Amino acid sequence: MTASLFSLEGSRAFVTGASGQLGAHFARVLHAAGAEVVLAARRVETIAALAAELGAGASAVALDVTDEASIKAALDAAGLCDIIVNNAGVAVSKPVLQQTAADWDSVLEVNLRGCFLVATEAARRLVAAKRGGSIINIASIGGLRILQGVAGYTASKAGLVQLTRQMAVELARYGIRVNALCPGYVATPINAEFFASEAGQAVVRRVPQRRLGTPEDLTGPLLLLASPAGAHMTGAALVVDGGHSVNPL
Ligand SMILES: NC(=O)c1ccc[n+]([C@@H]2O[C@H](COP(=O)([O-])OP(=O)(O)OC[C@H]3O[C@@H](n4cnc5c(N)ncnc54)[C@H](OP(=O)(O)O)[C@@H]3O)[C@@H](O)[C@H]2O)c1
Repeated sequence: MTASLFSLEGSRAFVTGASGQLGAHFARVLHAAGAEVVLAARRVETIAALAAELGAGASAVALDVTDEASIKAALDAAGLCDIIVNNAGVAVSKPVLQQTAADWDSVLEVNLRGCFLVATEAARRLVAAKRGGSIINIASIGGLRILQGVAGYTASKAGLVQLTRQMAVELARYGIRVNALCPGYVATPINAEFFASEAGQAVVRRVPQRRLGTPEDLTGPLLLLASPAGAHMTGAALVVDGGHSVNPL
């Protein structure tokens, strides 16, 4: 009985940024739970290879979340999706006084405007089809606390948490749930060098669990938000960070 709560049989999921570290993991998890998955990103060869690896029920579609026409075309090609994982995200890392308008725009355009456009476009289709669904915005503890040197990133993720709450309220009447998943630092090949350094180790020491997250740490929380197990959850910002964001001041 409890296992079926997390089953995604009969659902179709749309995962943005599925060519990246976390997006690929999220696509695998949703597929393993029984959903058809549509992998979306600009690097089409990468997602096509993952779709081929996953096999039946997985497909790839080109998507640039900065381009409204691309979003509409990708969702048209995907067919009706009732699980949307807004995972595409970027950061520009430099001190705030060195950040330019172009830096700011490039981050906000993907992390906030892109999520807004994907979520609203997908939700309009669900409403038209009289279907409920689950929108999961991949935010960050940077949307709740401060991370050094990524002003546009933290502002965009804070905006994404607030957009999540706004959409949760407005879409509840249509049976569409909207939640944010807020990971702490997740160990990936991209940040491996930094976290092996003394500065990186100092960051790890500030995590109460004394370790970074792994993509696997996000498996259960993602399934909770995606599946009937999370049926009464909407407007939540689910933090998964080993206690990092509640460390003592
Ligand atoms: N890793 C962490 O420690 C961590 C912690 C908290 C939150 N997060 C969040 O988790 C998400 C995934 O992070 P990650 O670590 O997996 O990063 P990643 O490996 O760099 O992946 C980022 C993804 O975003 C996609 N993307 C970027 N610009 C895009 C655009 N214009 N249109 C469509 N897709 C675009 C990229 O795909 P293409 O280049 O192929 O388009 C890529 O698949 C992000 O939102 C990030 O903020 C990560």
